[in-house]
Amino acid sequence: MVSARNAHSLDEFVATHPGSVSLPLDVTDRAMFAAAGLQVASTCDSLDLVVYCAGHYKPMRATDFDLDEALRHVQVNQVGALHLIAAVLPGLLTQRRGHLSLVSSVAGYRGLPNAMAYGPTKAALINLAETLYLDLAPLGIGVSVINPGFVQTPLTAQNAFAMPALITPEQAALAILDGWAAGRFEIHFPRRFTLWLKALDHLSDAMYFRAIRRVTGL
Ligand SMILES: NC(=O)c1ccc[n+]([C@@H]2O[C@H](COP(=O)([O-])OP(=O)(O)OC[C@H]3O[C@@H](n4cnc5c(N)ncnc54)[C@H](OP(=O)(O)O)[C@@H]3O)[C@@H](O)[C@H]2O)c1
Repeated sequence: MVSARNAHSLDEFVATHPGSVSLPLDVTDRAMFAAAGLQVASTCDSLDLVVYCAGHYKPMRATDFDLDEALRHVQVNQVGALHLIAAVLPGLLTQRRGHLSLVSSVAGYRGLPNAMAYGPTKAALINLAETLYLDLAPLGIGVSVINPGFVQTPLTAQNAFAMPALITPEQAALAILDGWAAGRFEIHFPRRFTLWLKALDHLSDAMYFRAIRRVTGL
């Protein structure tokens, strides 16, 4: 089953991917998500893999803070993930197998310029995935978090800056498949970029802020 708001795009996907089924929904709509959960439960014998990939991103700095836009990020990136969990967790707990994967971002590692609305929601997803892993792995349910660097999509087309180590959606999809096949908890890519960010993660606050200012010029 594939889901998003745009039913037309979903229909196009289904037409070219035999066996797939379209399930249009808005992840911020709790009632719609609950109804979709019931539909999935009545249609599917079991859940093998559930992926939360819906995301919202608008570059935002503290100097142009927009509360409505910030709350929109929380609704789509964070609350929507909770709606998904509410919809699928009962089934996963009953069957004691299956896998839940949340698409977060390297923007969730530490604070970054332009990420005032986006970054905190992705940090929350990483924390949520870690907590889910601790609770669900002993019950036989897999959990993973996907932290991409820059991928060439409509989301990143809004970025006015040169994006280091930018990859195509196809490269991102292969990295995700590799990560699932290897059974990794955190699937991050491209590693030439994400390993560098992980190294920055170990710096003291003062050194981190200095490094980010130097690299971004902000
Ligand atoms: N591109 C990157 O460099 C990058 C890096 C790190 C993480 N990510 C994460 O990867 C995921 C996919 O991003 P993308 O780059 O493919 O972005 P995108 O091209 O903007 O796609 C966003 C997807 O989310 C869906 N969506 C947005 N709001 C929704 C809502 N309210 N209800 C249901 N679906 C909704 C959109 O479909 P509809 O508009 O039809 O609803 C679309 O399929 C996101 O979680 C993003 O944060 C992307």
